[in-house]
Amino acid sequence: MSAEARALDAEQDLAKPGASTLPVGLLGHGTVGAAVARMLADRGEAIAGLTGRRPELAGVLTRSRGSFEEILRRSEIVIELIGGIEPARGYVLAALRAGRHVVTANKQLICEHGEELFAAARENGAQLRFEAAVAGVVPVVRVLTESLAGIEIRRIHGIVNGTTNFILSAMEAGADYEHALTQAQEKGFAEADPEADVSGADAAAKMAILARLAFGTPVRLADVRYEGIEHLISDDLQYARELGLGLKLIGTAERLAGGVSVRVHPAFLYGHHPLASIGGPFNAVTVEADSITEITMSGPGAGGPQTASAVLGDLLSVISAAGSPGPPVAAPVALPLLEDTDSAFYLHMEVADEPGVLVAVAGVLDRWGASVKSVLQRGLGENARLVMVTHPLSESRLRSAVGEIGELPFVRSPPRAIRVIEEEFE
Ligand SMILES: NC(=O)c1ccc[n+]([C@@H]2O[C@H](COP(=O)([O-])OP(=O)(O)OC[C@H]3O[C@@H](n4cnc5c(N)ncnc54)[C@H](OP(=O)(O)O)[C@@H]3O)[C@@H](O)[C@H]2O)c1
Repeated sequence: MSAEARALDAEQDLAKPGASTLPVGLLGHGTVGAAVARMLADRGEAIAGLTGRRPELAGVLTRSRGSFEEILRRSEIVIELIGGIEPARGYVLAALRAGRHVVTANKQLICEHGEELFAAARENGAQLRFEAAVAGVVPVVRVLTESLAGIEIRRIHGIVNGTTNFILSAMEAGADYEHALTQAQEKGFAEADPEADVSGADAAAKMAILARLAFGTPVRLADVRYEGIEHLISDDLQYARELGLGLKLIGTAERLAGGVSVRVHPAFLYGHHPLASIGGPFNAVTVEADSITEITMSGPGAGGPQTASAVLGDLLSVISAAGSPGPPVAAPVALPLLEDTDSAFYLHMEVADEPGVLVAVAGVLDRWGASVKSVLQRGLGENARLVMVTHPLSESRLRSAVGEIGELPFVRSPPRAIRVIEEEFE
């Protein structure tokens, strides 16, 4: 019998009742599901030693095998690793309503239907855990819902999409966008269709979940302003490096006077920011609060065994907390979602190399309340490249200034503006 056939047999060897057995239903047996099945087999004894319960598969559901109703009947805990909204939503709701604890890695489901699922968990005394839905194995959900649940979070910055971080690292090393994307696909860090990653949508769903956990207010994908990396050019990265800046796709969730802002966009970071050194396909999240200054967690954001490790951690939490409610995803509070936030900006302009250009650009910026922190000017024959970093101002004022600069007669192509994150925590 092949090793694969033996593994399949082991999975289908349904849980036998016994004091120390914990029957687990597995929905989905793809990249993550298969890794979870392997880890349950490999780590079962260790988990039994830690918790007094030995998890055993009570059934596996895929498109071609297993019955959900049968698995539900046999399981105490259901692990959902199908992905997407339906049928995952229906299965998770049915499991919670039947009083089963649920572990999922499904960011779309939690982002779009979190309130319905959190309520079903609360009403049925079941736990719903989803550490792997945000930043893979980086334990940010646990930190927000447990370790830091008692304090007021001010801001979260995250590199929560490994594909785009890999592409930007490759661009920083000199590749153009298309080549960097091809490299990411060849190394298995990007899907054949990378749209959800490079557009910022994947990161936006994850930041919506983090904002809900940190601030209590429901945030869905449609509430998050997001911008991707498709329009970036290698020049942006090269010039910014001379100003001491590195480029990342950053998700931000922050509490401001009057509400909450949740957004994803490319942003430059100074070298001392804790996220500046996160390269390649890694994820990292920085949580800021007055009482803690900041903490940063980083690690692999995807991959079968990596994501399965986070799923297994949730399983252990469920077993340890069985009988008590958890994790504490409180009933929602509605806070206004703000769009026009302040930021420093990097500006990149191609202009005619003639007298008076710098003074004219500075004049427009000054009228819109933008003061300039640093400037680089480089001659390109008859033209010149002008790169500036401003001090913080509102995005709407910056966009107005950029629009006006774009109309000046000596400007050769539309100016490019990218946000700069200024905190360094030195
Ligand atoms: N892959 C990662 O690195 C990663 C990282 C973090 C989070 N996640 C999340 O983990 C979840 C699973 O991702 P994955 O990469 O493991 O996905 P995957 O490789 O595509 O596997 C999906 C599994 O679900 C099964 N499935 C699909 N539709 C189904 C249906 N209608 N009924 C029953 N089963 C169905 C598939 O069945 P068949 O085997 O019959 O096709 C397959 O076994 C997703 O929510 C994803 O966002 C993944």
